[in-house]
Amino acid sequence: MTEFVKIVEVGPRDGLQNEKLTLTVEQRLNFISDLVNAGLKYIEVGSCVSAKWVPQMAHSDELFQRLPKHSDIQFSLLTPNLKGFEAAQAVGCKEVAVFTAASESFTRKNINCSIDESFEKFTDVMTAAKAQNIRVRGYVSCVVDCPYEGAIAPEQVVKVVKRLYDMGCYEVSLGETIGTATPDRVKTLWQACLAELNSDILAGHFHNTYGMAIVNIYQSLQQGIRVFDSSLAGLGGCPYAKGASGNVATEDLFYLLSHMGFETGIDLEKLMHASQRISQTLQRPTSSQYAQAYLA
Ligand code: HMG
Ligand code: MG
Repeated sequence: MTEFVKIVEVGPRDGLQNEKLTLTVEQRLNFISDLVNAGLKYIEVGSCVSAKWVPQMAHSDELFQRLPKHSDIQFSLLTPNLKGFEAAQAVGCKEVAVFTAASESFTRKNINCSIDESFEKFTDVMTAAKAQNIRVRGYVSCVVDCPYEGAIAPEQVVKVVKRLYDMGCYEVSLGETIGTATPDRVKTLWQACLAELNSDILAGHFHNTYGMAIVNIYQSLQQGIRVFDSSLAGLGGCPYAKGASGNVATEDLFYLLSHMGFETGIDLEKLMHASQRISQTLQRPTSSQYAQAYLA
């Protein structure tokens, strides 16, 4: 039987949050509909954060309310605190994601608090989520390097990942936020994690600043990781990590996985249709190498 790899499409959130052009709710909905048509089943559609901090993600609650109804698709929203959680819950969201980092400086820049304080906020989110049967995913940023502190010790990452898992996150996504990692360091990181946690609760979230995302994913597959986050057309970056470019492109990830014999549920032609449309909407060339070759 072919083995399934779960792809979490984060383009509508991680991608669009850092694009120059802020899309309308209508344009964001069209993007998400295209992703659904292409067979993506896990889609992070936006963030309930301060619009002063991330204007591109304003009205994510309204967007959520207007999503096409599909019982087999997990649409999720990023929620840094109870205020964000309440906004998500009010529009019927059944999965939220909390996010912190393995670096104190990055946590401060990103969500304006310390790592410990971020966990205090998540405790409130978790209590409310449990009471309402809402699933919570966790993110840890800067799992290899931090733009402010440099190299981060794998033990520090494991501590934060475990803390999220122990508080009730069903899956923890490890963010290689600035894309500086190489496969040797990624191997060391997963080995440290896997000494304490099962692979099925771990996900890889690789940014592609230095073109290393795909080799880092290949390394992660070798270590037994089967969940990856990606953005169509390699959109975006992180507003609080200077110089960081977009996520690994979903098209490139699909190419790797399908050629390695993994099942993803994606329809290639429809994926490429979605890919072309979002690049046109954003008026910028795609960052996906697969898409560039496909269109040539
Ligand atoms: P703060 O200023 O510390 O919050 O911001 P506060 O509690 O002091 O409140 C200040 C104002 O924000 C108040 O409004 C609150 O109501 C409002 P005012 O009275 O000034 O009008 N506020 C909110 N508004 C909407 N939604 C909320 C919310 N909470 C408070 N949930 C806060 C704290 C977290 C809100 C802020 O720092 C923020 O929004 N940061 C943005 C974080 C973000 O979206 N970062 C990007 C996503 S993470 C990422 O990209 C990394 C990842 O991809 C993995 C990787 O690659 O590493 C996941
Ligand atoms: Mg990211």
